[in-house]
Amino acid sequence: MTQENNMQVPFFTFRDFPDGIHARIEQTLVEEYRRQQFILGASVQEFERSFSDYIGVKEAVGVGNGFDALVLSLRALGVGPGDDVLLPGNSFIATINAVQQVGATPVLLDPDEKTYNLTAQAVNQAITQHTKAVIPVHLFGLPCPMPQIMQVAQEKGILVVEDCAQAHGAVVAAGK
Ligand SMILES: Cc1ncc(COP(=O)(O)O)c(C=O)c1O
Repeated sequence: MTQENNMQVPFFTFRDFPDGIHARIEQTLVEEYRRQQFILGASVQEFERSFSDYIGVKEAVGVGNGFDALVLSLRALGVGPGDDVLLPGNSFIATINAVQQVGATPVLLDPDEKTYNLTAQAVNQAITQHTKAVIPVHLFGLPCPMPQIMQVAQEKGILVVEDCAQAHGAVVAAGK
């Protein structure tokens, strides 16, 4: 076996985060531990405010994790048993789990071979009378072609729940 074959690829690491972030995370964890208010406290409110500013929306609601965010969004939109939900077959497992959690049926679509993201064409072709929603997943930091997907969704009358777990702050340039 060559040395290259022995290379260890860490599954997840804070290694590449900007300088100083470790100290800030440690300090915040200690502060929160001392405050003993882990749910709906001042820090969550502050996070919701700064995150909504960062992504340019009026409101953000802090939840436990990305899976919960998807489940709550689907529930809020009334997606449930008897509904088909379109999503890319190459997403992280939480996306399909969320659809199953609300009792809806996941319909896995092939992504674009260059971007690995859903295309408006694939969404358009997959819509049937049972389709209630589509979940475009912005994988690896690259946004899906949202203007086109939104147009298809509006024309066909289906709901759109974006999974931004891998693309916080990513933007689609005007006209793209
Ligand atoms: C595309 C995608 N959706 C959803 C999730 C779920 O997020 P969480 O692990 O916070 O539940 C992840 C997590 O990596 C993800 O990559």
